Amino acid sequence: MEKKEFQFSFDVYNSIDELDNDDMMLLSEAQKVTEYSYAPYSKFHVGAVAKLSDGKIISGSNQENVSFPAGICAERVLLSAISSLHSNAHIKTIAISYKNENGKSDHPISPCGICRQSLQEYEQRMKHPIRLILGGMEGKIFVLPNTSLLLPLAFTSDELK
Ligand code: THU
Repeated sequence: MEKKEFQFSFDVYNSIDELDNDDMMLLSEAQKVTEYSYAPYSKFHVGAVAKLSDGKIISGSNQENVSFPAGICAERVLLSAISSLHSNAHIKTIAISYKNENGKSDHPISPCGICRQSLQEYEQRMKHPIRLILGGMEGKIFVLPNTSLLLPLAFTSDELK
């Protein structure tokens, strides 16, 4: 028997003002695009904004549906848009923010399990790490060096070979 351990470290900032200019701009854009979310059911509006290797800034937001499982998270809306319309560039950084009509937005939220799977595969496919900046409208901010850290022991496309 052998024990395996998984560890990762990430940066925690006390507020958006501590970020460098590029990261600050990306997170504040993610805060803004929560406005484009369609979330009449959960009232939880998520914005995700990517900076691409060609310098373009692309955004996505969660889009719900009365048939609840048909709704899509902001992260996967964003990845689909980039994969369909900007596939020549890879993603350098994604910032994710949210506005909660029923509660506070004062701490980072982290992508859901399905989005972790999608982010992990996108990263593997592009062969470049995707940095993540996670923050609410206020409060602490987490910066992760890549998205695969969020999904240890991931099921990957290598298994199908
Ligand atoms: N949501 C996202 O867009 N991203 C996440 O990482 C977590 C959850 C959305 C899905 C749904 O529209 C709402 O937030 C509440 O779960």
